[in-house]
Amino acid sequence: MKSICIGTLLLGGRVAFAQAPSEPFPPAATVKQLMLDLIYPSSNDILLAIYRGGPKDDQEWATVRRGALTLAESGNLLMLRGRARDQADWMKDAKMLVDAGNAAYKAAQAKDGNALAPLAGALDASCTTCHKQYRPNVFPKGGGSK
Ligand code: HEC
Repeated sequence: MKSICIGTLLLGGRVAFAQAPSEPFPPAATVKQLMLDLIYPSSNDILLAIYRGGPKDDQEWATVRRGALTLAESGNLLMLRGRARDQADWMKDAKMLVDAGNAAYKAAQAKDGNALAPLAGALDASCTTCHKQYRPNVFPKGGGSK
């Protein structure tokens, strides 16, 4: 009698666990909000710095560094369940953003303008590759003025 009760409790616990939401915390932003308030401004900061000939002082390097880290982690945020549109191309495209962000972060930590400059292309490609497939008719100009 006792063991049946325990078995039922365990089973009940497992069922409850299986039905728990896939993420233990609710997302604060939609994909669109991430684009507008994290991703676009951060990529803009980096691309503008590159197009102006590279960051000039510690403050400008810090801006690029923060933007780069924001982009790298934003790529991860795009891969969360509920945001990822699929487990194939979306994940690859988001990973491009992570990689471009990480590379820019490394360059900014080293304050290496020669390493930073060529990343403009990779950064821009990470946006347009995903937008072509998942957001047709929208091509925000990479690095353009706001
Ligand atoms: C993994 C896919 C993906 C990547 C990578 C990505 N985007 Fe997006 N982006 C989207 C999707 C999907 C939308 C449409 C969101 C919606 O309207 O719900 C969007 C919309 C936007 C918008 C328009 C928001 C509006 O007003 O509706 C801007 C601006 C934008 N992205 C900028 C960028 C920039 C800049 C980058 C690169 C640094 C980037 N995105 C990378 C998927 C992506």
